[in-house]
Amino acid sequence: MQDTWNRVDAFIAERLVRGDAEVERANERAAAAGLPPIQVSPAQAKLLQLLVRLAGARQVLEIGTLGGYSAMWMALALPIDGRLTTLELDPKHAELARRNIAEAGLAETIEVRMGPALDSLKALAEEGAGPFELVFIDADKRSYPEYFKRSLRLCRKGGLIVLDNVVRGGKVLDASGADPDVEGVRRVYELIAAEPRVTATALQTVGVKGYDGLAIALVVR
Ligand code: SAH
Ligand code: DHB
Ligand code: MG
Repeated sequence: MQDTWNRVDAFIAERLVRGDAEVERANERAAAAGLPPIQVSPAQAKLLQLLVRLAGARQVLEIGTLGGYSAMWMALALPIDGRLTTLELDPKHAELARRNIAEAGLAETIEVRMGPALDSLKALAEEGAGPFELVFIDADKRSYPEYFKRSLRLCRKGGLIVLDNVVRGGKVLDASGADPDVEGVRRVYELIAAEPRVTATALQTVGVKGYDGLAIALVVR
């Protein structure tokens, strides 16, 4: 099925997804620099951009930058005074993302914070950053529960918390506890389910990134 998923994703992208040329070039630079090709697909990037618009976001937080692809797509939907903060552990990824962001003319809009996301999230809370109207969680999956808890504190009522990779080819069903990344994802479902301040769903997705899924939580109070 993967071949069909790829072709349908291309069909959709050709019709509905007009990427910024400089943003698409970011992926070429990332590939050339040996970064793993795990950024969101063009159609998913467009969905994130639509969500930024729907949320009327002025401040966006991203956890997991890679080469800056999803960050740039979201930043392009922000108002002129909008800001996006993106957190990245790997100095090589952060450096390339900063270069890509500068080339796309988004250096004034996007801040890349290097370091473990947990540390950056603590620092953001101490600085009184936010409130954010949209948070995109897409870094190490084992830390998703902690990322979700901290994102919720930084998120405005009416804001969205979006989580990538919440299906992982069905691995989410593995209750053995053997894989800490799967455990992180499974535990974040439980947290979201038990959290009265959000209402959420998750959708299974197929496409160029294989079989996976996306969760969306709306902060209702
Ligand atoms: N959102 C990006 C893809 C992110 S891939 C896009 O769609 O374009 C996940 C990223 O999270 C990788 O760059 C990885 O280095 C980073 N990461 C992994 N563990 C992290 C941590 N503890 N803190 C911050 N970033 C982390
Ligand atoms: C991986 C991480 C991601 O965020 C993703 O969307 C796909 C794959 C990974 O670490 O393999
Ligand atoms: Mg992802």
